[in-house]
Amino acid sequence: MKYFKKIKGKKCYLSPVNVEDAEKYTEWINDPEVSVNLTFFSKVISFAKEKELLEKISKEDYHFAVIDLESDDLIGGCSLNNVDPFNKTAEVGIFIGNKAYWNKGYGEEALRLLLDYSFNILNLNNIMLNVYSYNKRALRCYEKCGFKKIGIRRDSKVFGAKKYDIILMDILSRDFKGSMIESLISD
Ligand SMILES: CC(C)(COP(=O)(O)OP(=O)(O)OC[C@H]1O[C@@H](n2cnc3c(N)ncnc32)[C@H](O)[C@@H]1OP(=O)(O)O)[C@@H](O)C(=O)NCCC(=O)NCCS
Repeated sequence: MKYFKKIKGKKCYLSPVNVEDAEKYTEWINDPEVSVNLTFFSKVISFAKEKELLEKISKEDYHFAVIDLESDDLIGGCSLNNVDPFNKTAEVGIFIGNKAYWNKGYGEEALRLLLDYSFNILNLNNIMLNVYSYNKRALRCYEKCGFKKIGIRRDSKVFGAKKYDIILMDILSRDFKGSMIESLISD
């Protein structure tokens, strides 16, 4: 079995990552349409490097593969980073690498599943993310999930003569609606 339904939604589920998928991840992170939106766009990531990274993160907490519920196909990944249990904060990162799945609500649902896990299992309170100002699809996806803009780091993403802002967004546990985890417990 390649994937496990750790957190299940209606369209997709979050599974522990599978190291055997290194080639698929390498393909996606070398696709400029995907990676222009990601922090490591400037890096050259080979299959060997990606496999090493997957081997490392597969042994750590809070890294998930995003799997289409109907087909059981890998479509992307998401992670919680810098988890601080004392102050109840963390940061999220997400990508849907299979572009055929863009604009169909998979990003929103995968992120909602990760937020549900963050707020209702890890009992975190504030989840933050960074997004480039030109990434309109991601901005819309994050707004749909309930993230709010909290700041702008101006001219901090540079492509030659062009400069773009980095937008910071966050969401509080009290603003998160629609926990799917609640349905697991009858009290
Ligand atoms: C960003 C990403 C995770 C979003 O996932 P997704 O499944 O495409 O997102 P959703 O379908 O849930 O939502 C996308 C929304 O953006 C809208 N959208 C798409 N292109 C848009 C544009 N140019 N301007 C404004 N809105 C746009 C869609 O219509 C949709 O909104 P709607 O549901 O109100 O119609 C995914 O596209 C992705 O991984 N992209 C590449 C990597 C990336 O950008 N990662 C995030 C880095 S911060």
